[in-house]
Amino acid sequence: MIYSRIIGTGGYLPEKVLTNQDLEKFVDTSDQWIQERTGIKQRHIAGENETTCDLAEQAARRAMEAAEKGARDIDLIVLATTTPDQIFPSTACLLQSRLDIHGCAAFDVQAVCTGFVYALAVADNFIRAGSATCALVVGAETFSRILNWKDRGTCVLFGDGAGAVVLEASREPGILSTHLHADGDYAKLLHVPDGVSQGYDQVQRERAFVEMRGNEVFKMAVNTLGRIVDETLLHNGLEKSDVDWLIPHQANFRIIRGIARKLQLPLERVVVTVAEHGNTSAASVPLAFDAAVRDGRIKRGETLLMEAFGGGFTWGSALIKY
Ligand code: UT7
Repeated sequence: MIYSRIIGTGGYLPEKVLTNQDLEKFVDTSDQWIQERTGIKQRHIAGENETTCDLAEQAARRAMEAAEKGARDIDLIVLATTTPDQIFPSTACLLQSRLDIHGCAAFDVQAVCTGFVYALAVADNFIRAGSATCALVVGAETFSRILNWKDRGTCVLFGDGAGAVVLEASREPGILSTHLHADGDYAKLLHVPDGVSQGYDQVQRERAFVEMRGNEVFKMAVNTLGRIVDETLLHNGLEKSDVDWLIPHQANFRIIRGIARKLQLPLERVVVTVAEHGNTSAASVPLAFDAAVRDGRIKRGETLLMEAFGGGFTWGSALIKY
């Protein structure tokens, strides 16, 4: 039996920090409201000329360094993003060139905030099938570019960043299972209305921004993530108490706390970065993971549960023996 094991992690946040107090100056909001409703204190924002690929490159280099792998070792790149540098080539191909990797498959995955979990599942399946042996999996976003900075219901929530892991084929258990779902009937609760084959030829800049019915998304997220936690544990024949760490999507501290309560997991066993990062969409789970690996909280041999929920709707989880 072949598994894929995570052998290195990396993360990158742009230098510029936007605090809640900064937002108070140009949006009708308050630090108190943002903290009470979301847990967010600040978020990082990409520089004017800094792209998703720039952020991805930094995170990927750090993950490859931690994994002690070079350009020649990587034989698959899967990159999750909602905010690609260009319509094409894919950001995965742009990243491949930056890293001086040549010839291997490289492609983007689009599942918004669930993007990294989707990308991880794709790469894991390539490795299990014997189609790849060493994969670079990245979640990277410049979500700030698709925010309407006049819409207080969305602009206070998101930030930019990138996270990455290197997966390697192994006979030792690594990723135990992944679970992916989607239901397109909910598309309009969280979306960017315009795109390439719809609205691209008209200048309707305001339709190229995120629109969200936050409260409805919130309720769906809590219920759906609760269900996927059960599905993941049942599939592996595990109890709640078998999970050492929850690495959740960082959209809202209240959602994270709800899932931790469901798992009967103390908050010390939950990786929470939402206060400092905000919601970085596809970058949120790998950024949180990298932070807890690097500061020594997550240790080899521990059981990790990753979960995410996002536009589509999409949702997914991964159970990992680290
Ligand atoms: O990552 C993808 C998945 N996304 C999520 O999981 C996000 C899910 N949704 C949420 O996290 C929450 O729904 C929000 C944080 C977006 C909103 O919190 P809420 O408790 O659901 O608030 P609400 O939308 O019901 O709005 C409550 C009030 C409204 O005022 P009224 O109508 O009660 O007078 C809003 O207009 O809060 C107002 N409001 C704000 N006030 C100050 C909305 N945004 C803001 C703001 N500052 N930024």
